[in-house]
Amino acid sequence: MFGTNPTGEHVRNYRAVRAAAGITGCVAFSVLVSCAGPQPLSRAIRPQDEQAYDEMMARGAATPRLAFLTNRAEEMGITLAEAERRDDALSSTRNPFNARRDPVAVSRGAVIYKNECMACHGEHVDGRGPALPVPLDSLNFHRTGLRWDITMRGGAAGKWFKTIENGTSVEVKDKSGTPITISMPPFKDRLAREQIWLAVTYLQSLDKDIPESATPKSTEP
Ligand code: HEC
Repeated sequence: MFGTNPTGEHVRNYRAVRAAAGITGCVAFSVLVSCAGPQPLSRAIRPQDEQAYDEMMARGAATPRLAFLTNRAEEMGITLAEAERRDDALSSTRNPFNARRDPVAVSRGAVIYKNECMACHGEHVDGRGPALPVPLDSLNFHRTGLRWDITMRGGAAGKWFKTIENGTSVEVKDKSGTPITISMPPFKDRLAREQIWLAVTYLQSLDKDIPESATPKSTEP
């Protein structure tokens, strides 16, 4: 066949238009919500993991840490002291879970996030949790610096682990301009090290749909 097939041309144009519309839509949409940003918590959580966590907590342990380690000890047929010893031995720099390949760990971490972190960091991990007196952009995991950490390095694992373990605080101004301090409590005694790693795994999973080679347009200092 010679010449241009008008139908083929039409299909190609249509595809180009659709692609352009898609890109424009994505850019417009990303002004409201970040385009490839965090997935909703409800999508990360498998109902059975949330149920298991709630059942574990309903048994009345003083902290999620004790609930988790007691559960672990029972599962493995070891003493609580031995479960604690093993947990203490976990590295504080190397995440034992892989956010890209382990959706179960992501889900279990998302449940911990929902129970322990969401009040401040927000349902959409955007720094707009109900417990904060003012929204905090530094808690926004859509923010370029954190997206960079997540996308390019799979999350700043060791740094995040230490922040969660020891807590941190930040000085900001409230709505009337008065300086206030907002503190994240240390989770050292409240969460087992394995639970901290699970929470980190959830945070690391937020950009897993972006290819590892994707380059953010800019980075924060
Ligand atoms: C009471 C509020 C509050 C709670 C609850 C909370 N955080 Fe935070 N978080 C903060 C504040 C405040 C900061 C410091 C922000 C800053 O430095 O600007 C922070 C910082 C962080 C950072 C460091 C981010 C960075 O820029 O490197 C990580 C990671 C983090 N939190 C994870 C968690 C996890 C996981 C949980 C739950 C286990 C949690 N947070 C619970 C308030 C909270």
